[in-house]
Amino acid sequence: MPASSTPVLNILTLAGDGIGPEVMAGTRRVMDWFQSSGRMRFNITEGLVGGASYEAHKTPLTDATLAAAKAADAVLLACIGGPKWDQLPYDVRPERGLLRLRKEMVLFANLRPAIVFEALADASTLKSELVAGLDIMILRELTGGIYFGEPRGIETLPDGSRRGINTQVYTTGEIQRVARVAFELARKRNRRVCSVEKANVMESGVLWREEVTKMGAAEFPDVELSHMYADNCAMQLLRRPKQFDVIVTDNLFGDILSDMASMLTGSLGMLPSASLGAKDAHGKQMALYEPVHGSAPDIAGKGIANPLAMILSLAMMLRYSFSLAADADLLEGAVKNVLAAGVRTADIAAPGQTTVGTAAMADAVVKELGRLS
Ligand code: IPM
Ligand code: MG
Repeated sequence: MPASSTPVLNILTLAGDGIGPEVMAGTRRVMDWFQSSGRMRFNITEGLVGGASYEAHKTPLTDATLAAAKAADAVLLACIGGPKWDQLPYDVRPERGLLRLRKEMVLFANLRPAIVFEALADASTLKSELVAGLDIMILRELTGGIYFGEPRGIETLPDGSRRGINTQVYTTGEIQRVARVAFELARKRNRRVCSVEKANVMESGVLWREEVTKMGAAEFPDVELSHMYADNCAMQLLRRPKQFDVIVTDNLFGDILSDMASMLTGSLGMLPSASLGAKDAHGKQMALYEPVHGSAPDIAGKGIANPLAMILSLAMMLRYSFSLAADADLLEGAVKNVLAAGVRTADIAAPGQTTVGTAAMADAVVKELGRLS
């Protein structure tokens, strides 16, 4: 029996589609290790999301699963989507399940850290000296902007041609709450925030820049604030990525820039993320942790997907939802050592290097956890 002081973590796992069940299974092995070590107890509920939920319930997210997500201390989600569901009406596509979770849990702050593990500096498509030691945080606004703005839709015009509409929209409140997270994150890091928009062509970007500037001057004079247009930021991420500390940007630019940043680290299979809401009066904060990568239908079911982004998302969960910093450090340290020892899934292997599958990578992490602890 665990000691009464052992924290009990109520987790909803959503394995989703494609490689989701495989990387989730690998992550569960790591959770099993933490549980059997007596450090914490997991009370896990499993749910369906995306295509998997559509197959069972004709919707990518049921109300019951949404309620379970809100009730949990934290949600661990793998990935959703696949060609099988590409032809579905827009409203029931797998992506809508994920977007509804984000929106209804009000997970406005999406933390996407891009960290280059020393052993992987050569795995990046960029020269290793450009990326060695890289540690940046992309903070993506996740519940506003063009992803959710109204009006939206596809309409038929009188002449029979059609028009597709989406709206980029931000309120001061939405900008301020994510900006505050950016400044607070920077205070725990290198005290630099780069705010990214396209104020040169978009009014929402003008407002974004004004609000971030105001907040920086009034509340965070100790944090160095700079501004960059999104296109320039994309270029600078490839030219000199280490110039950044915290990047804060809107939903769409954040989506694109974080995929770019993932390649600095060697593979999309390495990037974890945390999506956080505001703390309520009791200090409870809604949270969802998921790898940045998608469902990779091309390699699904083969047992070769890299589980490290999902495992590192678990580390973020321990850190941000449960303040278990020592356990998060331990897990990240184990991943670092496994990589240093040359254990590689195919996506991060050098040509000719021996590779392992999803389960073996997870087992290597578990073994290293045992050695370190
Ligand atoms: C991401 C993904 C999602 C997004 C998709 C799957 C809806 O690309 O989390 O970055 O566009 O936000
Ligand atoms: Mg994306």
